[in-house]
Amino acid sequence: MDLFRKKSMQSQTTSRLKKNLHLKDLILLGIGAVIGTGIFVVTGQAAATLAGPALTLSFVVAAFVVILSGFSFAEFASRIPVLGGAYSYMYVVFGELIAWLTGWFLICEYLLAVASVASGWSAYFQGFLSYLGFHLPKALTAGFNLANGTYFDLIAGIVVILVTLWVTQEAKKALSLNNFMVWVKFGIIALFIIVGAFFVKPANWQPYIPFGAKGVIDGAALVFFAFLGFDAIAMAAEEVHEPQKNIPRGMIGAIAISTVLYIVVTAILTGLVPYKQLGVNDPVAFAMRFLHLDLVGSIISIGAILTLLTVTISMMYSLARLVYAISKDGLLPKALKQVDERHHTPKNATYVSGIVVFFFATVFPLNILAELTNIVALAYLILMAYGIIHYRKVAGLPKPGEFKVPFVPFLPLLSILFCLALMIQLSLATWVVFVISLVIGLGIYFGYGYKHSQLNQRS
Ligand code: ALA
Repeated sequence: MDLFRKKSMQSQTTSRLKKNLHLKDLILLGIGAVIGTGIFVVTGQAAATLAGPALTLSFVVAAFVVILSGFSFAEFASRIPVLGGAYSYMYVVFGELIAWLTGWFLICEYLLAVASVASGWSAYFQGFLSYLGFHLPKALTAGFNLANGTYFDLIAGIVVILVTLWVTQEAKKALSLNNFMVWVKFGIIALFIIVGAFFVKPANWQPYIPFGAKGVIDGAALVFFAFLGFDAIAMAAEEVHEPQKNIPRGMIGAIAISTVLYIVVTAILTGLVPYKQLGVNDPVAFAMRFLHLDLVGSIISIGAILTLLTVTISMMYSLARLVYAISKDGLLPKALKQVDERHHTPKNATYVSGIVVFFFATVFPLNILAELTNIVALAYLILMAYGIIHYRKVAGLPKPGEFKVPFVPFLPLLSILFCLALMIQLSLATWVVFVISLVIGLGIYFGYGYKHSQLNQRS
């Protein structure tokens, strides 16, 4: 049994796609996928229950972890410019088993991230509806939570169905909306910052660290979620002009811009509203209503509703392509690589993804979904960081012009340590689900993937 059979880089680099994405497009693509529920929704609960005003520090810690991972990513993207991101890099570096595990964690990450963003979308939409005086029956407002009397998130379910259908039909058109939506996103964040800056009461920042250092790290483990999606840039490798240079720059640029925005928004948010009152689902709009600036609050709500929808669409799009790519390699059932004749989209991969996302989005509450997303993402980022150390041993240093992670193996080891530190903060329930997903992943590989892999057919 050869669990570490490798794909060659050449077998994956041939492309007939047009290389017309430049640095600016990549940064917009990254920000389109990154800025979403994390800042618009998760910050509220995280400030109220985990970190207080020191949530700004949590963002700094999370950004540090993401930047370390971004370095590994950037070196791979620059040295192995193939389609499929981390999954494909690991196929070249470690061979099939680790590639599959990475692919499996990525599938889980994207499934859960789409479910989380749908759930966050539902929260914003409901916040806006209730401001207009409409209320859903309590049982249908959020995922299963006996203590709160909620059972099923109806709006999240509807949005998942619509997005799934949309992605099988008009994905390209929907994605082209992305760039426009990024400007809408910048617009509402700028509006919040400019208006909010006039109303900040420094007294709200006292006490600054009400839950101690542990609160800051717990907060970081949750808001790490807000940075996920930065890898979407690597998925576009085939269509990028000078990918060796532009992918690393685009990725680091998108992370840097998001970090600055997150820190400023959180500082203002916690300066406007006493942190204990921020435990709402639409904190950024709520802060404006709290100041009786209802019109600004409504503009922000509508902007968030529009932009979160595009985050869901782009993530569902990437998810379906990932499932499709893995099934083309034979590691998932053939039916998943079936392409729709009319729209040229991987329809079965999209439908199956949609059904699983529907289940998670409607049944699980957002904070659990965000934690689960984080644990699988952290797990695959550990594999990536270790991958750099290993790849340097077998393939040597990057060539001039390629991105080079500084201080190897020190920085990748630090990255592994920090990812582990954040994973440890996550709840026991999250770990149990993580172990179950790992067992399912290994079960699929040994029960199906190993035998049906393209590499097996060839050998
Ligand atoms: N980073 C993405 C978001 O915050 C998942 O919505």
